[in-house]
Amino acid sequence: MTKTDRNAARPWWLDEVLYQIYPRSFADTNGDGVGDIRGIIERLDYLEWLGIGGIWLNPVMPSPNADWGYDVADYCDVHPELGTLEDVDRLVEAAAERGIRIVFDIVPNHTSDQHRWFKDALTGRDARYRDYYVWADPGESGGPPNNWLSVFGGNAWEWHEPTGQYYLHNFLDAQPDLDWWNEDVRSEFDDILRFWFDRGIAGFRIDVAHALIKDRELRDNLPATDEDHERLKRFGQRPTYNMNRPEVHDVLKRWRKICDTYDPQRILIGETFVYELTQWVEYYGTGTDELNLAFNFPFALGRLDPEQTKDVVRASEELIPPDAWPAWMVSNHDIGRGLTRMCHNDPDLGRVLMMLVLTLRGTPFVYYGDELGMTDTELRADQIRDPVGLRTFGEATVGRDGCRTPMQWNAEPGAGFTVSGVEPWLPFGEHSAVNVEALRDDPDSFLNFTRSLIQLRKESDDLRAGAYQEVDSPDGTWVYRRGENLVVALNLSDEIAAVEVIEGTIRASTTGGRIDEHAPGRIDLQPRQGVVIVADLAHDGVSRRDA
Ligand code: GLC
Repeated sequence: MTKTDRNAARPWWLDEVLYQIYPRSFADTNGDGVGDIRGIIERLDYLEWLGIGGIWLNPVMPSPNADWGYDVADYCDVHPELGTLEDVDRLVEAAAERGIRIVFDIVPNHTSDQHRWFKDALTGRDARYRDYYVWADPGESGGPPNNWLSVFGGNAWEWHEPTGQYYLHNFLDAQPDLDWWNEDVRSEFDDILRFWFDRGIAGFRIDVAHALIKDRELRDNLPATDEDHERLKRFGQRPTYNMNRPEVHDVLKRWRKICDTYDPQRILIGETFVYELTQWVEYYGTGTDELNLAFNFPFALGRLDPEQTKDVVRASEELIPPDAWPAWMVSNHDIGRGLTRMCHNDPDLGRVLMMLVLTLRGTPFVYYGDELGMTDTELRADQIRDPVGLRTFGEATVGRDGCRTPMQWNAEPGAGFTVSGVEPWLPFGEHSAVNVEALRDDPDSFLNFTRSLIQLRKESDDLRAGAYQEVDSPDGTWVYRRGENLVVALNLSDEIAAVEVIEGTIRASTTGGRIDEHAPGRIDLQPRQGVVIVADLAHDGVSRRDA
């Protein structure tokens, strides 16, 4: 098989870096302070230069924005603030010209309370769309049907006086949960998927993919225990019966079958927000019949402590079916930016984190602005827009707006995001130095570092496809081999560390400099330094070390 044949058979998303765009915050072309689809089209040249191969867009469908697009009022249209269906078509086309695919976000767990199905469901128990939602009579004490809690706080049930029943909302009460036991709901979504696939959308990121089906008997959840993840302990209960039900896999399999009827195959990426790797891996099914990629939250929510994170990666590698493929991300619009959460805004450590994400075996996701070293922005109470932040300001969490602030294109007052003088929908972060214009021409910048790693992935079969193999290394460091001829060595500590690598050439370093320098089999890593070393190959393709 020639190299070209091999590549033709290999799906694009195994090799490419995906880039997440929060559309309201990327680029505003009409001066209303809100990013739009045309803005993304205008910035495609930048994304092509950066080297990414796919874009995941947070929801662009019409929404009253109780949860900023995650409360969908119409699944087959575009929110007027963001653009039109024609803009989407132009985006798909213009991106394709640059080898970039567009992945949409889909929100099947719940609709907006402004969706026509829910408005109809409220009109009576016999309404046409009543059973599209999860309705229940009061429990024995006359209160809510069971003890389920909403992810966003409080009880997960809302009383509807006119029809004398409760409806379920795992999130806001303006986000009623759909009833995925209902075959009509399933077939509505089959059509919605096809609607977008037929327009050239390359796949979907599925919102709360693990939670679509609820226990049929609506059994009470059990309290969280000391063994549970910190977040569950804070939450107070295990979501045993309102999430992670075994039957959700039937829905995902059904979707995968639809994806597989398209050429090229469309992909499914799951927001599998589970805390156990044994649960996470189930969403891959056999490896070929469920999700193509499932976000790994035990990894994303972990600390940048090499021992702990190594364990997560090792266990993920062991558990994942041979035909399935990992996905790695450390930042998104909910959990914040990895540079802030895991690296306390230390850009040196941030580069090591970026190197990790871009060199593990699997598909990396880069959150817009992470390539620059953007950090989470602190907001004043009156600037908070996120419903979670509005509920919790002043408490342990201040919500999710800090990682949703506008992309920093230049140092001007409008940050190149919007026209100077226009108030952006969320405030700008500190953009005088961290912006595309300032960093693009500086060869040692965070941006050019990120870009050079993406380029290295393109050039290296080992980096894209080689097996992951941990190499023994001192405390505070993490060394792994990718394939036969490439080694990644990360020093996360504040001490100089000597590590065993392979003899070869340093092809990337978080500290700049030393690139293309010869690396003997053992090197000293500076504090918070990461390097990628490629073995020098003899003419027959075997590493000199092995020859
Ligand atoms: C997902 C989204 C988040 C949203 C929630 C409810 O977790 O990523 O932003 O608030 O689902 O739809």
